[in-house]
Amino acid sequence: MTTTALITGATAGIGNSFARALAKQGSNLVLVARDTARLEALAADLERKYKITAEVISADLATTEGMDRVAERLTESSAPVDLLVNNAGASLARWFGSTDIADEDRQLDLLVRAPMHLMDAALKTMVGRGRGAIINVASVAAFTPRGTYSAHKAWLVNLSQWANIKYSTAGITVQALCPGFTRTEFHQRMQAEIANVPKWMWLSSDAVVRGSLRDLKKGKPISVPSLRYKVLAFLSRHAPSGLVAKIAKKGR
Ligand SMILES: NC(=O)c1ccc[n+]([C@@H]2O[C@H](COP(=O)([O-])OP(=O)(O)OC[C@H]3O[C@@H](n4cnc5c(N)ncnc54)[C@H](OP(=O)(O)O)[C@@H]3O)[C@@H](O)[C@H]2O)c1
Repeated sequence: MTTTALITGATAGIGNSFARALAKQGSNLVLVARDTARLEALAADLERKYKITAEVISADLATTEGMDRVAERLTESSAPVDLLVNNAGASLARWFGSTDIADEDRQLDLLVRAPMHLMDAALKTMVGRGRGAIINVASVAAFTPRGTYSAHKAWLVNLSQWANIKYSTAGITVQALCPGFTRTEFHQRMQAEIANVPKWMWLSSDAVVRGSLRDLKKGKPISVPSLRYKVLAFLSRHAPSGLVAKIAKKGR
């Protein structure tokens, strides 16, 4: 059966890998981000390569107008969305307390308010159809207290875990995807210092997406791609609080 997937943040990194993997599987796509030219080029490329249809929605998900436009597409019954991938994200380079509070508001809107609104719209329509799936791209940062970014991702993990239980009887799977360091445009965009991140800690966005889609089929509420990050995530969730506090003091 042909499915339709809506992916936010599809122009780069993990979202782009989701778009390519799902198109390859024959899924029609709704691609969301701010850069219209990049979205249209991606849609044309995927339509040509995989004979699927790819719609484009240019929207800034840190704005109410942008999130409303995407939420509206999720409630359309003529071409229903079976899979929502809440992926769009960005982070601030500095720590909470030294950042501009207006930038914190925009980060909160993009990482928490937008996925909440899109999940709400998707769940309401998916429940009526008795099937659907949602992937919320969180982070392994959710498991260690490290400022607002990790707090927002922890919120997303918590809500996803609950929603996966609550809506499984309605035929809906909800997954929190928790990648570790992944080579994308993310760190460059936030101008983060990454030279001292060891090579072994880097994942490819394609491998992250393969792990997520494999775990989605199994109905897993939390997907942590790669063995090394499964071990690290386990340790951060079970480490003594003193050690966790020490880690939290260090850089991202
Ligand atoms: N890379 C990592 O190490 C890593 C690790 C764990 C979790 N994550 C999470 O993975 C997700 C994807 O990040 P990535 O690493 O793939 O980053 P990326 O390469 O920088 O891609 C981010 C995507 O989000 C879109 N985006 C950013 N701000 C937006 C806005 N206001 N409205 C709409 N779209 C917006 C961007 O497109 P436009 O600029 O065209 O809008 C782009 O398509 C994020 O939620 C991030 O927190 C990343």
